[in-house]
Amino acid sequence: LSWIEDAKKRAALDATKLVVNDQIVGLGTGSTTKYMVDELGRRVREENLRIRGVPTSIQTADQAKINGIPLTTLDECPRLDIAIDGADQVDPNLNLIKGLGGALTREKIVDTAAKDLIIIIDERKLSERLGWNQVIPVEVIPMSRVPVSEKIRELGGNPSIRQLKNGRGPFVTDNSNYIIDVDFGVIADPSQLEQDINMIPGVVENGLFIDVTEAVFVGYREGVKKIQKSV
Ligand code: 5RP
Repeated sequence: LSWIEDAKKRAALDATKLVVNDQIVGLGTGSTTKYMVDELGRRVREENLRIRGVPTSIQTADQAKINGIPLTTLDECPRLDIAIDGADQVDPNLNLIKGLGGALTREKIVDTAAKDLIIIIDERKLSERLGWNQVIPVEVIPMSRVPVSEKIRELGGNPSIRQLKNGRGPFVTDNSNYIIDVDFGVIADPSQLEQDINMIPGVVENGLFIDVTEAVFVGYREGVKKIQKSV
């Protein structure tokens, strides 16, 4: 493991200790949450941990099933005890940018349904200001991509439709939509921008997660630090 993988894994393992019997657990998406899902699976198999998971993507659902974690839905369990998820950028107020993995809409639905949202990252994701060197992913209905892009320019952003790495057209989300990645530069008012983007017709959701995080576990080159929301 490179030190980054090691840092992600240590943050994930520490956060996973918060999960206890009989909880409904939101399961995030990405390369950091992968360690969390594997560890929950290990505890289910080896320690008889009794939980049910609500996955935030098809990819995480598949990984949870392979791990033997029982799954449920928001139809059955609309309130979760805890959700553990990754992030692309975290500011000192524990506001987030998420969605580089493309799962932002289901993540926002599941993560905000949880009593406690716990974020796991490596130290590279910490930033004094949101938007510094970081695009905001916006999920859009495919037919709306051009008018949404124009309205995003009016809001001061520089939009680009996310493409598949193999060059075969736009990236498609689990919800059969497109992602527009928007460079806004450093964001002065993340809460206002989250609302402004979501008011554009055709936008399904955006990757700003404001004032929803309870705690962040940060994996460093050595050790893990837990940052708690200040009240
Ligand atoms: C996916 C996400 C991920 O949580 C975010 O991209 C972090 O991923 P990783 O842990 O692989 O860096 O928001 O939509």
